[in-house]
Amino acid sequence: MKIKGKNYRTIWYDENDQVVKIIDQTKLPHKFEVKNLKTVKEAVNSIKTMEVRGAPLIGATAAYGIVLAIMENNDPKFIKISCENLIKSRPTAINLKWAVNRMMKKLSDVNHNEVLKIALEEAKLICEEDVKFCENIGLNGLKIINEIYNKKKDTVNILTHCNAGWLATIDWGTATSPIYHAHKKGIKVHVWVDETRPRNQGAYLTSYELNEEGVPNTIIADNAGGILMQKGKVDMCIVGTDRTIATGDVANKIGTYLKALAAKDNNIPFYVALPSSTIDWETNDFKNIPIEERNSEELSHVEGLDENNNLKKVLIYPKKSKAMNLAFDVTPAKYVTGLITEKGICEASKDGLKKLFK
Ligand code: MRU
Repeated sequence: MKIKGKNYRTIWYDENDQVVKIIDQTKLPHKFEVKNLKTVKEAVNSIKTMEVRGAPLIGATAAYGIVLAIMENNDPKFIKISCENLIKSRPTAINLKWAVNRMMKKLSDVNHNEVLKIALEEAKLICEEDVKFCENIGLNGLKIINEIYNKKKDTVNILTHCNAGWLATIDWGTATSPIYHAHKKGIKVHVWVDETRPRNQGAYLTSYELNEEGVPNTIIADNAGGILMQKGKVDMCIVGTDRTIATGDVANKIGTYLKALAAKDNNIPFYVALPSSTIDWETNDFKNIPIEERNSEELSHVEGLDENNNLKKVLIYPKKSKAMNLAFDVTPAKYVTGLITEKGICEASKDGLKKLFK
């Protein structure tokens, strides 16, 4: 997708410099900076600090992290520790484990001299597949938006939470892909963007990327979704997910659950968009999903531009106050209207997922 009219992906390998390039998302929306990753430690760090974030993108970064590890030291012990560190870098998104396992499976029988070449090919393939999957999610989700548009004959208002946009994937996004497809087809859409405290990924990233693509959007306070739904100003919700378990329960950015409850209460369809790399087939009880708890500084401080256009971080809490920063919650499958995947749309249930994928 575009930034200042130029097409970008969120991560790529630079053959000339032999480095992995990322867009540093901690600087957006105020500064656009491309950063080089040269070591696996830098890859782990960029996932932890959320220079890269969003389930599919951190999976791809982990895949490239293995490439960087091999370039540094093609020794099985070093690669093994690197894989463990990549998987541990953030706990909730299953894409990390998925990508590392896929890379290691691919490399298991490969001749020592060929390891780097095959690893690089596989990391690139993971990215290409993600782009294709997200594009298909868009085409599948487009049908739902089209249906609403044909009935309503007016702008379709879509609420999304956090950033499940192209910045969270390699391109297109998951929740935003149907929106971009609808916009490109000339269907009138407008997006309610939850600011998504504490890190404001909605305000900082979703609104930014929608603006760059010319999609009309309005940022709302994180808790404003309920009243908008009661007032009939939301036609549908589409969110992403960091891990959807075998039962169809959905872990996503904190606050997703409350939006789903409000949507249910107001009879508004609540869709979750995901590539199959985000399905955790082994977990059957949502209580077993590890919920990331991040530094409370993300809550107590906010960052923005000061009067001189410099980035500045300020404390907004009483100095003595304690804060707790849970990053994700789980929306039970019963509140999810459907899962929009690269293979089609299914019920959020064991049967629904199985029918589509097995
Ligand atoms: O903490 P983040 O910014 O990595 O969380 C992102 C989300 O919760 C997204 O909704 C999710 O990763 C889906 S990505 C297409």
